[in-house]
Amino acid sequence: MVVKSQADNLPGMELLAVVIIAFWAMLPAYIPNNAAVLAGGGRPIDGGRTLGGSRLLGDGKTWRGTLVGWLAGALVALALNVLQPEASSLFSVDVPTFPLAVALALPLGAMLGDIGASFLKRRSGRERGAPFPGLDQLDFVVGSLLLALVVDLVFSLSWFFETFTLPVLAVVFVLTPILHVSTNAIAYALGLKDEPW
Ligand code: CTP
Ligand code: MG
Repeated sequence: MVVKSQADNLPGMELLAVVIIAFWAMLPAYIPNNAAVLAGGGRPIDGGRTLGGSRLLGDGKTWRGTLVGWLAGALVALALNVLQPEASSLFSVDVPTFPLAVALALPLGAMLGDIGASFLKRRSGRERGAPFPGLDQLDFVVGSLLLALVVDLVFSLSWFFETFTLPVLAVVFVLTPILHVSTNAIAYALGLKDEPW
């Protein structure tokens, strides 16, 4: 006999719970790009170097933007840890806490993913700021998840797969492009960003 779970009776509630967990778990990876937009400027990471006639990364990837983005995301993860008990009872969902290594890996991975995408954009002849649909929306997701997975394995945290279950991962890959497109459009409308993507 198949026992019907509460979740089967309330599919909408179950989805909402997954969305809340996905958003909470990825917030430390969502912050860095936006913080970098606000903090960017100064010395580019590639120091102006070129490869095959194009910039290695370009002026859009700076040391200041990267460091501030990383730090901002890590601080958000630590703040979420403090808020976790209240948030869990408020949403009636057990939202995750972030081990320190994960709190550092999620935002750093997001920045590295974005930098990797920049490298690919320059190799494919796209100038700084040119859109690369798909890559732009998911580079930081892949970067943050990969680095979080690596530290999870290295430090035997058993955190990654407990948090990023398949439904949560699926929601992350659907939710993130939507959030990315809308926050960038807002940043552009506010004059904070040069392009709406
Ligand atoms: N930024 C930064 N350092 C980073 C990422 C972003 O300083 N590691 C800042 C830059 O001022 C950049 C802005 O945030 O112009 C927007 O970021 P993004 O859209 O990722 O860069 P692009 O200017 O579009 O450059 P690219 O085409 O290389 O992605
Ligand atoms: Mg851009």
